Amino acid sequence: MAQHVYGVDLGTSNIKLYNSSGDTVLNEKNIIAIKNRKEVFSFGNSAFDMYEKAPENIEVSFPLKFGVIADIQNMETLFNCFYKKINGGKNVTGADFCIAVPTDVTEVEKRAFYDVIMDTRIKLHKITVVEKPIADAAGVGIDVNSPNGHLIVNVGYDTTEISVISLGGIVLSKLIKTGGSRLDDAICNIIRKKYNLVIGSRSAEQVKIALADAINEDKDKTAMTYGRNIVTGLPNAREISGELVHEAISEILHQIIENIKVILERTPPELSADIIARGIYLTGGSSEIKNIDKLITSETGLKVNVVEKPSESVIRGIAKIVKEPELSGLMYIPREKQYD
Ligand SMILES: Nc1ncnc2c1ncn2[C@@H]1O[C@H](COP(=O)(O)OP(=O)(O)OP(=O)(O)O)[C@@H](O)[C@H]1O
Ligand SMILES: [Mg+2]
Repeated sequence: MAQHVYGVDLGTSNIKLYNSSGDTVLNEKNIIAIKNRKEVFSFGNSAFDMYEKAPENIEVSFPLKFGVIADIQNMETLFNCFYKKINGGKNVTGADFCIAVPTDVTEVEKRAFYDVIMDTRIKLHKITVVEKPIADAAGVGIDVNSPNGHLIVNVGYDTTEISVISLGGIVLSKLIKTGGSRLDDAICNIIRKKYNLVIGSRSAEQVKIALADAINEDKDKTAMTYGRNIVTGLPNAREISGELVHEAISEILHQIIENIKVILERTPPELSADIIARGIYLTGGSSEIKNIDKLITSETGLKVNVVEKPSESVIRGIAKIVKEPELSGLMYIPREKQYD
């Protein structure tokens, strides 16, 4: 690898970029605002401030959907913007890039992550990819090359990736289309049904962060939310209870746990023994939901390890992989595009 390396984790909600020069991480909303169909009006967190608020001539959109690149052109433009930002406006050339790719997707979808960087006009040295669950595991401090089984569950925005890894490779991996956005939708729906109040997805996310509790421990907690009453058509404020939010999110959390159980059932017995000893590793931004670890433990009987800043565990892992020579074998160049 070259002296200067960038790590990339393109999430559906947040982009995380690592810059080896200075050892810094940028974590911003993976969103772009385009004015009059051509001009970049805003990007990242400031574009997110415009989400669901912009006039018709400004289109605010997320280029990723369900963990894969849905809008290549906007993703390339956005990547260029973030690349400039992380370099303080300078045009850095000759660096290496290492990109995290989801495991349970097609080769074409994997290759698209590589192509996004390839097609930008950045003069670079080399691009490699690393499987996201491997980077995630390295990011939580697991010795990924050891012959022990580990179960990693990354609950993100549009996706939940459940993987068993051992000896630096993926034994099993399942990407399910659920995560924080489904929780936000469920909160929107229940508030609409109960109070005839329509709230935006950003308000729903705020309610979730304030009140969501996987085991409904603190029943009396409340928070205010604001929206439009569908009967009167007028703006309205409402106090929302933690209990209502719990009711909204419960089924989705149980669906995630059911999928964890399916992976556990398919895990070879020797690796199961390792997982029992070490517990489940929970990562991704949505693992910050209060008491989600307790709910998983009560449903599976397994210990659950949570980490600090779980949204950044993949990018922390990439930073480790590009720095430590004994982990360099985890990076590879994806196959040429195949239309299968
Ligand atoms: N304190 C919190 N409580 C609950 N959810 C949270 C909290 N903080 C962040 N989140 C949720 O974490 C999610 C973002 O997590 P993350 O950055 O891991 O997703 P992503 O990598 O962009 O998405 P994906 O991996 O699905 O492509 C959002 O849905 C956000 O609402
Ligand atoms: Mg993610």
